[in-house]
Amino acid sequence: MTGMRRRDLLIGAGACLGAGAFGVSHGMAAAPVALRSRRTSYQFRDTPTQGLVSLADGAPPPLLRVRQGARAVFDYTNGLEDYSTIHWHGIRLPNAMDGVPYLTQFPVGQGETFRYDFTPPDAGTYWYHPHCRTMEQMAQGLTGLLVVEEREDPGFDADLAFNLKDFRLDDAGAMLPYFTPRGAARGGTLGNVQTVNWQNDPVHEVPAGGIVRLRLAATDTTRVYKLVLPDLPGRIIAWDGHPVDAPMPWPTLEAPLLLGPGQRVDVALVMPPEGADIALTGLLGYTPHRMARLRPVGSDLGRAAGDIPVLLPNPIARPDPAGAEVHEVVFGWSPDGSGVNNGLCGTYDYVFWSINRSPWPGDAVEGVGPVLNLAQGRSHVLRLRNESPNLHPIHLHGLVFKPLRSNLRQIPANYGDTLLLLKNEVVDVLLQADNPGDWAFHCHVIEHQKTGLSGYVRVG
Ligand code: C2O
Ligand code: CU
Ligand code: CU
Repeated sequence: MTGMRRRDLLIGAGACLGAGAFGVSHGMAAAPVALRSRRTSYQFRDTPTQGLVSLADGAPPPLLRVRQGARAVFDYTNGLEDYSTIHWHGIRLPNAMDGVPYLTQFPVGQGETFRYDFTPPDAGTYWYHPHCRTMEQMAQGLTGLLVVEEREDPGFDADLAFNLKDFRLDDAGAMLPYFTPRGAARGGTLGNVQTVNWQNDPVHEVPAGGIVRLRLAATDTTRVYKLVLPDLPGRIIAWDGHPVDAPMPWPTLEAPLLLGPGQRVDVALVMPPEGADIALTGLLGYTPHRMARLRPVGSDLGRAAGDIPVLLPNPIARPDPAGAEVHEVVFGWSPDGSGVNNGLCGTYDYVFWSINRSPWPGDAVEGVGPVLNLAQGRSHVLRLRNESPNLHPIHLHGLVFKPLRSNLRQIPANYGDTLLLLKNEVVDVLLQADNPGDWAFHCHVIEHQKTGLSGYVRVG
């Protein structure tokens, strides 16, 4: 079945697929992990915030750990009054497991369960979030990290995963509107409470003199984090999950690392002996803001930068720039806008953005073709052109790409699934179209995604 027909089928026949679509047959028994979304409350500051969404009561969505090359099965039950799905951001999985409403599955209704069943080929730092009612459910907290462990333990002394996310709260702790039309038409609507794993400036004890693997994921709906790493021996070891090929500079106050919504970075840090806390800092504007602290404890393990474990490359089919077809993709304002129809996944009155001058008409609109057709088994260059003064973290599902060149800066040629396009920037990215299907392709500033800056790419 072609993607187009499958899409129309999903739109037309959704009602029956929706009722307990367990889908995938059982092969080798991998114990399914039950996940259930639910409403909860949580105390960020002085008063509890109601109406949050998590997979746990009174706690953030859990860190999920699976293993490279091992089957992972998640039974996702929607305990919310609204429709939902789960998307596994960055995982190269079969299209039917990608969690995109109408494109790959019918939205999961209240009380229904959908089985996500896939075998992650790549190790690294990934994450999960809903792809239906995305704006609301992510703003309400439903974002979590998914760590795919290497086949062999690489041997860090500690492994920490930090989910970087903001919330928009008023003084009484109640949630403010998730976005404003003004923000959506520009750089996005920022939150005002910065959290790491839903906490303000948490302190983590780590082995003194040990090598810490720190996984940082930007899961906010809007904020581009400006990260500053401590002045310690260390190295950026992975980008968007994949071990880096090209070295990346150490982020400093003068030159912070931009981590846009959807992006991840893994850092190896050599801890000093016991003593002062080590701060992870972000810049809010130009003002440093402490996000979290590491506290070295115990007898000094005495490691040095030369002891940082080397990660094995993931099995990515290397694309060939010479034989690649070039495709132009322009991100800009919307020429006109009559609203977006996401069916059961929310509708929007506003359209501000477009891809190749077409605003996305919505998840649930029938007969919408792909932004691009990519011949399977071939290499392709996507020329990503930002015709706006705003930043756009452009994300492609199901595939990984490597930046080749930018008109504005040196970009390290590391594989990833989300590229932060700067103001008026043009970046060529190279990919091998080896995973067939209809893959969502959108800005990860969710209020941009939901007001036109979305589409899909067909590999087949
Ligand atoms: Cu992380 Cu289509 O999303
Ligand atoms: Cu994704
Ligand atoms: Cu955007």
